[in-house]
Amino acid sequence: MYLVTVLGNLLIVLATISDFHLHMPMYFFLSNLSLADIGFTSTTVPKALRNIQTQSRVITFAGCISQICFFFVFGRQDNLLLAVMAYDHFVAICHPLHYAAMMNSQLCQLMTLGSWLISVLGSLPDTLTILRLYFCTNRKIPHFFCDLPEVLKLTCSDTLINNMVVYSVAIILAVFPLTGILLSYSQIFSSILRISSDRGKYKAFSTCVSHLLVVSLFYGTSLGDYFSSIATLSSRMCLMPQ
Ligand SMILES: *[C@@H]1O[C@H](CO)[C@@H](O)[C@H](O)[C@H]1NC(C)=O
Repeated sequence: MYLVTVLGNLLIVLATISDFHLHMPMYFFLSNLSLADIGFTSTTVPKALRNIQTQSRVITFAGCISQICFFFVFGRQDNLLLAVMAYDHFVAICHPLHYAAMMNSQLCQLMTLGSWLISVLGSLPDTLTILRLYFCTNRKIPHFFCDLPEVLKLTCSDTLINNMVVYSVAIILAVFPLTGILLSYSQIFSSILRISSDRGKYKAFSTCVSHLLVVSLFYGTSLGDYFSSIATLSSRMCLMPQ
């Protein structure tokens, strides 16, 4: 599954770079999303596969911090790019005549670079505030990777500041893109409903079905991951002392 994910996403990136017909905002965003997805899966899955293979479920403190950091960078990058793509669909469907002017290459570059920058800067406070914590002994993480909320439960230090930082950054960086996606789609649906012909309705709707599917998979599995992490205790990992 890991190889399929990496190769499939790599194929999207290579196709977008090599085919001149795909040099459009939508495909640039898609290939940036593919890059983020390669990074996102590579943060956790290879380590989990190695744990299964070697039967040693140990991770160093540095390894754990890097997992947390990159998990946030790529996860938030995914999230922000999905919002950018929702905006792209909104402009294409609700303002088709102004699409070329509104989604010019400067704006596309600004939005992609901006989302990379925001996700990198946004993961710094979370990661840096863990460095001030003290972990006493070998601790077990009830997950197959270093999930920040689980790691915070293991410390002997006071985590009030960490929790405040984690929750405020999470709210800013998750709620704003999600609100953007919901607003874009509410506009898209209301303008699709105003299209008089059934064929036009179908055509407009079919352009955003795949994106809607990805958005619901992304948020659905993120929520599912949180609920199942409470239930699964079988895939524990050990955090080595500093
Ligand atoms: C990411 O997006 C930028 C701006 O839209 C684009 O120039 C760049 O080629 C994209 N990256 C990839 C790997 O396609």
